[in-house]
Amino acid sequence: MSLGRLSVSSVLRYGGRLLSTSSTPQAKVAVLGAAGGIGQPMALLLKQSPLVSQLVLYDVVNTAGVAADISHIETPAQVSSFEGPDQLNEALTGCDVVLIPAGVPRKPGMTRDDLFNTNATIVLKLSQAAAKACPNAMLGIISNPVNSTVPIASEVYKKAGVYDPCRIFGVSTLDVVRANTFIAEAKGLDVSATNVPVIGGHSGVTILPLLSQVTPSVSFTDDEVSSLTTRIQEAGTEVVKAKAGAGSATLSMAYAGARFAFSLLRGMKGESVVECAYVASNVTEAAYFATPLQLGPRGLEKNLGMGTLSNFEQQKLAEAMPELLGNIEKGVKFANEN
Ligand code: NAD
Ligand code: LMR
Repeated sequence: MSLGRLSVSSVLRYGGRLLSTSSTPQAKVAVLGAAGGIGQPMALLLKQSPLVSQLVLYDVVNTAGVAADISHIETPAQVSSFEGPDQLNEALTGCDVVLIPAGVPRKPGMTRDDLFNTNATIVLKLSQAAAKACPNAMLGIISNPVNSTVPIASEVYKKAGVYDPCRIFGVSTLDVVRANTFIAEAKGLDVSATNVPVIGGHSGVTILPLLSQVTPSVSFTDDEVSSLTTRIQEAGTEVVKAKAGAGSATLSMAYAGARFAFSLLRGMKGESVVECAYVASNVTEAAYFATPLQLGPRGLEKNLGMGTLSNFEQQKLAEAMPELLGNIEKGVKFANEN
């Protein structure tokens, strides 16, 4: 079993190019919101991967330029471009993985929940289209508020009669990526060998890094646990403040989204890969909850649960639950009223 990392370990350099050394599956991957701050660099990373044979770029504006640009890269993935709702069904037909970074980002002073009014409708419409055109595809939802947009997509799939909870994921990989970075920096660890499980949801207090379960095993003072937990929970806001009105994390999110997509694709071709993601869950009282998941050919193969929590983590989980339950209820209600 391996932890998903974005690496070129399975590729060989030949004449400066990247070639696959293993049998390459024919995976068709779509990015909805492909012309955006996340969509463009994530599409770039996907185009470089031997795991992707067809790269579908969809947005409501500016797709043609992004697709023309990316299509000149000397890798095998074939790029196609679709723009506007009239072309959405064609874009999604035959897709194996659909990544959704469509929607507005935060500005300073906003919470992720403040994006609900705009992004809920966008995710509703895109998931309705995916449920129709490629019901068996794996769905990776990046659009915020993830705590609510995943329940929205799930309700849409239920209404369409095609719901499979093992195929719908809220992409919380960026929380793990940040936690790995911050903990490795704080403790002088090799970041490429550091793994911090992050459970719960993807907003403020609902993001719960499990510092008691860090690999390699490492000890923290109480003050370190408290300050590092807060830094990981507030890392998105740190970027929003630094960008000062120009949006939220895009480059680190593109990395995290590509890492998650590659883990899904490796799982689909039979490798046993573990990633944390926000999925339908019965691990806690919350109907959706992020935990480490074993990925496989059918998507979520096994929910690995949250293990034994420290007293601090138990207290933080209790603090997170009201917000998480409220976000989930809001998403479910919206989907059922629209
Ligand atoms: P952006 O504004 O740069 O890009 C969004 C793109 O979505 C734009 O190109 C826009 O045209 C497109 N879009 C809007 N409506 C659409 C529709 N109906 N169909 C297809 N495309 C549509 O924003 P961004 O910085 O790329 O962020 C996108 C979303 O990702 C935001 O909601 C943000 O909060 C979220 N986000 C999530 C995480 C995470 O960890 N899950 C991390 C960072 C950002
Ligand atoms: C993040 O964690 O960076 C994203 O959810 C974007 C945001 O609004 O913080």
